[in-house]
Amino acid sequence: MSKINTLQDIQVQGKRVLVRVDYNVPMDKGAVTDDTRIQASLPTIQYLLDQKAKIILMSHLGRPKGQVNPKYSLAPVAQHLEQLIKKPVIFCTECIGPDAETAAKNLHEGDILLLENLRFHPEEEKNDAAFSKSLSKLAEIFVQDAFGAVHRAHASTAGVAKYLPSAAGFLLTKELQFLGQIKENPEKPFMALVGGAKVSDKIEVLEKLMEKVDTLAIGGAMAYTFLTAQNVPVGNSRVEKDKTDLAKSLLEKAKEKNVTIMLPQDHLVVKAIEDEASAQNTDDQSIPNALLGVDIGPATIKTMTDPLNSAKTIFWNGPMGIFEVDRYATGTREVAKLTAEAAQKGSTVVIGGGDSVAAIQSSGLADKITHISTGGGASLEFLEGKELPGVEALKK
Ligand code: 3PG
Repeated sequence: MSKINTLQDIQVQGKRVLVRVDYNVPMDKGAVTDDTRIQASLPTIQYLLDQKAKIILMSHLGRPKGQVNPKYSLAPVAQHLEQLIKKPVIFCTECIGPDAETAAKNLHEGDILLLENLRFHPEEEKNDAAFSKSLSKLAEIFVQDAFGAVHRAHASTAGVAKYLPSAAGFLLTKELQFLGQIKENPEKPFMALVGGAKVSDKIEVLEKLMEKVDTLAIGGAMAYTFLTAQNVPVGNSRVEKDKTDLAKSLLEKAKEKNVTIMLPQDHLVVKAIEDEASAQNTDDQSIPNALLGVDIGPATIKTMTDPLNSAKTIFWNGPMGIFEVDRYATGTREVAKLTAEAAQKGSTVVIGGGDSVAAIQSSGLADKITHISTGGGASLEFLEGKELPGVEALKK
């Protein structure tokens, strides 16, 4: 495999360095509401500051579909970054062209410039060569640190690396290291917890995990499809009827590979999602006709406790129930607590995916976890064994 340069392999001192970051962060009324991804970019920025580089940051925000749209401007992110890094951040309302070039040229050592949203130009998502070249004109070196976007073959993630000496930033390097360990060489016993609404979103990752795990716990609505595959009644719960055969074959594969599959042993059920007052726990795995499952129940959490305690490696992706509704978030929160306890006892715990990350953060336990991935789609595609264009582009 061709080698990827890391930041420390290249000379950045005094140079203009173009850094692709993933500042696709949640915003509300023009303010950043979760700055995890911005925080995660700070080690690379700090290193470049220490090296007296001239730093040019670029990112996308949302999906403005190639149109300039103030709702998706990165200007508030520049302000947020300024507060975090305690240094002025120059903001340029363009990401290519004369204004961006002048702003880049005028940088002094240790200055930071943030360019406007790359996706205001349709050429970005088309991985247009001329657009990549225009970006490359701004700098002498390219650093890829946007792990969350490396599964996209875009100009700023893949194309630009053709035109500049390139390296992986500290965040990308760390993500590849921890997720690589999960994928290739997890310390045993290895337990994975996978939740979320649809089996279809997670098939490939489940198949890949099956090669390495000792125990696989399945939660969220996808568990109802697995239970249906075993002829357990699940009432009105959400089931992907066309995926029950697939669930069956995954269960068979697990048996062949000696993998213990843990499906919910009980559930929190309601008459309708809006009808929180009707919530009750079932006595066992089955769900009565008129009811639907919204979370795992206390007995299920109990069964997870021992395997989580003894696992040396834990990977968690996806909520255990309808986490957005506070009353249906208990299972997900309990899992967050158990994984944090395991990490504190020395197990390697890696968490990926929006809702499980949100759960660990809202529980105030994020700092206990070994590694929280900043990439949802990217972390899944990596674990599925797919090539990541933004990483491939660095191999030269
Ligand atoms: C993400 O939030 O997963 C990344 O920033 C990628 O965004 P995208 O799905 O709009 O390409």
